[in-house]
Amino acid sequence: MTLEIVRLVLVFAHFIGLSAIIGAFILQLPWKSGFDFFPVCIGAGVQLLTGFGLVAVNEIADDVVNPWKVGTKLAITCTVLIVGLIGARRARLAKHTDSDVASLKPLILLAGITAMVNVGLAVFWR
Ligand code: HEM
Repeated sequence: MTLEIVRLVLVFAHFIGLSAIIGAFILQLPWKSGFDFFPVCIGAGVQLLTGFGLVAVNEIADDVVNPWKVGTKLAITCTVLIVGLIGARRARLAKHTDSDVASLKPLILLAGITAMVNVGLAVFWR
């Protein structure tokens, strides 16, 4: 019972984390400058923490977790985090220099699309 509550809280936070990444992606799709990678970094961090938590809870409950699925999701989430960190750094630098902020758009696209791939993996890979 307690374990089930922990699992539900983790799933809840897992959904909030994915909303932060994909919400930031959808919001900034029409933007041409001023990109904000903070929600992407926070969201990816939340996904890593809650994802590991979910794996642990499933292991404790003796539920089978597909290691290939989790490994693939882990690799993709690390990619989202790295892309978010690079984007945040470049956005900060762009504020102080005259660099081309439009070149940050592919990073937001990459983070959002890879996060959506993870939603697809979570739902369709059984
Ligand atoms: C951008 C990153 C991620 C997204 C968008 C994502 C998405 C999701 C979604 C939508 C679910 C619910 C699936 C369902 O209930 O049918 C889920 C469950 C789960 N996720 Fe993630 N996830 C991400 C990262 C991770 C990571 C990094 C891990 C592990 C290290 C992980 C491990 C799990 C586990 C164990 C479950 C519950 C069992 C399962 O459905 O396989 N996730 N994830």
